[in-house]
Amino acid sequence: MHMDNMDADLKPTPQQKGQIKSKERVSKHGEVFTAEREVNAMLDLVKQETERIESRFLEPACGDGNFLIEILRRKLAVCEQRVQQKQWTQLQYEKHAVWAVSSIYGIELLPDNAEACRQRLYGYFCEQYERLFGEACKPACRNAVAYLLGRNIIMGDALTYRRVDQPDEWIVVSEWSFIGEGKVVRRDYSFSYLVATGQGGDLFSDQPCDTFPPVYFLNLSHAAYEN
Ligand SMILES: C[S@@+](CC[C@H](N)C(=O)[O-])C[C@H]1O[C@@H](n2cnc3c(N)ncnc32)[C@H](O)[C@@H]1O
Repeated sequence: MHMDNMDADLKPTPQQKGQIKSKERVSKHGEVFTAEREVNAMLDLVKQETERIESRFLEPACGDGNFLIEILRRKLAVCEQRVQQKQWTQLQYEKHAVWAVSSIYGIELLPDNAEACRQRLYGYFCEQYERLFGEACKPACRNAVAYLLGRNIIMGDALTYRRVDQPDEWIVVSEWSFIGEGKVVRRDYSFSYLVATGQGGDLFSDQPCDTFPPVYFLNLSHAAYEN
């Protein structure tokens, strides 16, 4: 056997590496997950941004979140470092960690992937939070994160700009702005508008379709926006 072939034989296939779920999903939806090495190499191209808490990332075909989990990991590592260096209190960590989550967006066509992505990011957040603060963790902080992921990881078609669960509805993306004293302003934008106007600048511009009153970050929930 030629050495090159031998190397190829020893390499795991994409299926073995968990990059492919089924041939049908690959041909129907182009579903091939990116391996960790490539994810890191690509994110390293914008390393500084991945470590800036408020820097926003939107992935329009996010799968189960291979890129988004690494962005969250990098941002939370920065938050943890501040705590370890005694620069931030628990409350400051919570605010910045929630802020980090609020900056991460995904759109995914397949409901199982979208849900897996939310669960994965939520699970990772809770793991880190509990490891740092144990019994002192606040349910309100976990709830705020679950709420944000419920809004930011969207089951939708990034080509038609429509939601999967409600095909008559346009995809709406929420901008979360931390304005001081832990307060957050939500502004909603139609995704089609962001695609049409966002030419390499900020993800959001000054034309929201809806603006909401400020909410304290630990109160972020569906209930906070009712009425
Ligand atoms: C090549 S995979 C990449 C997944 C992930 N970004 C990664 O790198 O691991 C493409 C993903 O896009 C999703 N997808 C395909 N068409 C889409 C569309 N029109 N809108 C949103 N997501 C779509 C597929 O379901 C699949 O999860």
